[in-house]
Amino acid sequence: MRLATLLIPALFIILILSGCTPPQTEDQATIERGRYLIKISGCNDCHTEGFLDEGGNMPEKNWLTGSKRGWHNEQGTTYATNLRLLFSQLDENQWVTMARTMKTKAPMMWYRLREINDADLRAIYRYVRWLGPAGQPVPTALPAGVTPPEPYIYFPTIH
Ligand code: HEC
Repeated sequence: MRLATLLIPALFIILILSGCTPPQTEDQATIERGRYLIKISGCNDCHTEGFLDEGGNMPEKNWLTGSKRGWHNEQGTTYATNLRLLFSQLDENQWVTMARTMKTKAPMMWYRLREINDADLRAIYRYVRWLGPAGQPVPTALPAGVTPPEPYIYFPTIH
């Protein structure tokens, strides 16, 4: 049999197959779910430098790398953690435990993380791990009574 008679049908099969999208694996679907949850839950607003200012117009490679903008009030000053670096040091179960038990200073809404179900917490974890570690650690939190360097947001407590 001539080579061409074998190659031509083979080429057709390759062309047909390359036009089809392979079905999503379970892992890809979980990562996609994690991306969706991060998009709608607002984590980027604080944990990604400039995200809020740019109306969310920020390349995905920068997402969740933390922010140098301080959150300042009578309790002191906090900085939204680089979650890409944090997650690279946690395994999945440690993250679930952390999300269920952690308590931070304002404005992080720690009380909301514990309402996220296990499957969604795991999807968030897998997505952030899929993004991989990137960026630098954020500045260390400052105690009460210390004026932080610019830029910072002053949000006095209402009593
Ligand atoms: C309104 C701003 C804001 C939003 C929105 C926000 N965070 Fe935070 N987050 C912070 C700040 C600021 C800190 C640091 C708090 C501190 O130092 O006490 C923090 C801390 C954390 C920490 C603890 C890190 C550590 O090392 O202890 C985790 C985990 C975290 N955020 C996850 C998330 C996730 C996941 C979301 C989205 C569901 C989210 N955050 C949304 C501002 C925010």
